[in-house]
Amino acid sequence: MKEPKKINLSNIPTPIEKITFNGCSFLIKRDDYTGTELSGNKVRKLDYLLYEAIQNKSEYIFTCGGDQSNHARAAAVAAAKLGLKSKLFLWGNKKNSPDGNLLLDQFSGAEIIYLTKREYSEVNKIMLEQSKRLKKKITIVPTGGSNFLGIWGYINFVRELSTQLNLKSISGIVTAAGSGGTSAGILVGLSLMGFRKKVYAVNVVDDERTTRKIILDLAEGAVEKYRLPVKVHSEDLTILDGYSKEGYKKISPEKVKLLKQLAIQSGIILDPAYTGKAFYAFNEKFLSGRNKTDILFVHTGGIFGVFPKKKNYISA
Ligand SMILES: Cc1ncc(COP(=O)(O)O)c(C=O)c1O
Repeated sequence: MKEPKKINLSNIPTPIEKITFNGCSFLIKRDDYTGTELSGNKVRKLDYLLYEAIQNKSEYIFTCGGDQSNHARAAAVAAAKLGLKSKLFLWGNKKNSPDGNLLLDQFSGAEIIYLTKREYSEVNKIMLEQSKRLKKKITIVPTGGSNFLGIWGYINFVRELSTQLNLKSISGIVTAAGSGGTSAGILVGLSLMGFRKKVYAVNVVDDERTTRKIILDLAEGAVEKYRLPVKVHSEDLTILDGYSKEGYKKISPEKVKLLKQLAIQSGIILDPAYTGKAFYAFNEKFLSGRNKTDILFVHTGGIFGVFPKKKNYISA
């Protein structure tokens, strides 16, 4: 087994907290605490991806996402911290008054290219073309930092978990899924630690089938590339589908109401695109009316996404 090297942008280990919500207890892994401006799940992946960028003597990082992408913001901030330039290819329109992640992207000096939804469907091609034109050493970081290297952040997340709790005491882990790297890394990490647990991925961007395929391809590809002595158990992955019917960039009033109850009872703030939908699924599937400390909920961050949705949050 050949484990890749990394830098230490993320403040890890992150704590696990026991929360009581509507009279029921559950455990939450606070990956929103991987940093402040660098908060959320993306930082664990960037530890590996940016180590490689530095080794390759890159001057520039190119990456992509929605205009409120947590990943793009984390990449822009991390690039600034490491003395690299960043160029973000974002799906959305230029705003006169940028907010949330987009504001921080600009504030950290990222160059931003805005793309329509149609253009964004070809974003990898666009990034490649532009990288050729720039004639500089560039690292293209894929959407969400999810490639075989980036998912090491979540392979090692499981190792970290094993130092914090007895893995035998949990039967599953719930996380939001977009580009799939978080769920894929957890699947591989559990196998490497010799545990069979359920990974419940709440798909917020793509449909159930696509999300499942993305996650399994990443997990199996990493096992092959790094010659990991394990098998990926596809039956351990369950996609909790149907929790993002309003669309990735939106959140229903019913969900925001639940998030407000959680914020009032525990001080935990969840975001509209990812963790809010994942928690809604977790509450409906596992929590309602009973303690559920055998299924761990991962708070993958996203707090800056709350601000552009202030109208929804205020009216809840
Ligand atoms: C806050 C947050 N949670 C969860 C996810 C999903 O993680 P992944 O892309 O690794 O599936 C993302 C990014 O896509 C995110 O920004």
